[in-house]
Amino acid sequence: MIIENQKELEILREGGKKLAAVLNEAASNAKEGVTTRELNNLAENLILKSGGTPSFKGYKVRGVPIPYPGSLCVSINDEVVHGLPSDRALKNGDIVGLDIGMLWPASSAGGEGLYTDTALTVLVGGGTNKLINATKKSLEIGIAQVRAGARVGDIGHAIQSFLEREEFGVVRELVGHGVGRAVHEDPEIPNFGKKGIGAELVEGMIIALEPMATEGSPKVKIAKDGWTWVTKDSSRSAHFEHTVVVTKNGAEILTQT
Ligand code: MF3
Ligand code: CO
Ligand code: CO
Repeated sequence: MIIENQKELEILREGGKKLAAVLNEAASNAKEGVTTRELNNLAENLILKSGGTPSFKGYKVRGVPIPYPGSLCVSINDEVVHGLPSDRALKNGDIVGLDIGMLWPASSAGGEGLYTDTALTVLVGGGTNKLINATKKSLEIGIAQVRAGARVGDIGHAIQSFLEREEFGVVRELVGHGVGRAVHEDPEIPNFGKKGIGAELVEGMIIALEPMATEGSPKVKIAKDGWTWVTKDSSRSAHFEHTVVVTKNGAEILTQT
């Protein structure tokens, strides 16, 4: 979407801030022994407590027979995105992606709600991990390209060049996107590409940037559950995402506390 007035911007700022707090709380609970369903339920309850509606729950994607059953996507190791909450317990050393979306205020609150979307990846048990650090940095590098007049190719080029220089794979099949009035809107924001190519960013546009990187080949496929994207070579993967508003000279990150 492109925001039409200050009120919409205020709604996105408030919703984004609340969603970031929910994600941070889920991340700090991603400890050995905790199941992905427990994390999902925690996040879902926090969204409801914030006065929002979980936007992934019941979300339908073309070609996928079942609507998404959770409020939080939890993707472990070779799982790239859209991992389903289950009774699987996390283990120390797991690389765990947590992705969450919210409509705020809730759909029951009068219909002026807007969508934000954010993700991060943690190493269970703590410590540092090169893939996680590089993927996080690639999101910052992508966001640094955002300003009115830039092209989506500028973002993709910056993310891709950085990650490939660090010798990580860049997932192509999944991309960032416009957001705000719906979970997914135009334009697509690939994490690869050429400078100066593709849709032009305009002031007030709301977009979600979300690089996904792998330790091995960037090729991905859908797992048997119909939802989870996994790497074809079983290499591990990381994912970070922010919803931002395009400004004249840069970007304002909406999904941070
Ligand atoms: N969070 C994903 C994105 O960043 C979309 C998840 S849709 C779901 O675009 F249904 F899988 F939850
Ligand atoms: Co997301
Ligand atoms: Co997204």
